[in-house]
Amino acid sequence: MFDDVADGYDRANSFMTFGFDRRWRTITGRVLDAKRGEKVLDLAAGTGVSTVEYARNGAWCLAADFSVGMLKAGKHRGVPMVAADAMKLPFADGSFDAVTISLALRNFVDTKAALTEIARVVKPGGRLVICEVSTPTFPPIRFLHRKFIAKLLTWVGARTSSNPEAYSYLAESMLAWPDQRTLGEIIASAGWTEVEWLNLTFGVVAIHRAKKPTVNS
Ligand SMILES: C[S@@+](CC[C@H](N)C(=O)[O-])C[C@H]1O[C@@H](n2cnc3c(N)ncnc32)[C@H](O)[C@@H]1O
Repeated sequence: MFDDVADGYDRANSFMTFGFDRRWRTITGRVLDAKRGEKVLDLAAGTGVSTVEYARNGAWCLAADFSVGMLKAGKHRGVPMVAADAMKLPFADGSFDAVTISLALRNFVDTKAALTEIARVVKPGGRLVICEVSTPTFPPIRFLHRKFIAKLLTWVGARTSSNPEAYSYLAESMLAWPDQRTLGEIIASAGWTEVEWLNLTFGVVAIHRAKKPTVNS
């Protein structure tokens, strides 16, 4: 599905989020705080638009995605890229200082299994930063969001994409996604500690962060 929408994906994404996606990525980059000398895996990175942002301070950031079409559409960005499935990562244990996922965790077939697999490739004490759609906290906005999101995405899909069904799927996956607290519990149940989250844009999106326990903790 992502191969089919790859070419127009970045444009459609910015359109659908009214340009907020740029701000969400900037804040995710700040929370991640990747430093020179660190190795960061940007998982389900799509075209690598977020990878560029996270590499800004000199960290080595690898964009991984199982859609070769998405990776190819971002080739011009010049970030290192690899085709990889989040459910079975082709990396040795403890390979990365941090793993980050933006607007993609909800696409994985088994969230908890993916988070467990991600923990395997992160060093003890390493970080997890997830930017994902969530549940608006202010009731009137929550109501409007639930009521109009499917219509908006279907409308955008019909105008910007050769595969409009993909955008209906996107809306369904957003509405079915757990709220902030429930996702926090799933992350903790996959073996991560110090789970906390930050709401952005009234909770339309939330950033969750967590740590892999050190051997002694
Ligand atoms: C909505 S896009 C987000 C892309 C990018 N992270 C961004 O912020 O624009 C979701 C991405 O998740 C990828 N994806 C979904 N399931 C995956 C999996 N199991 N392993 C690797 N990538 C996956 C898709 O190919 C797609 O590129």
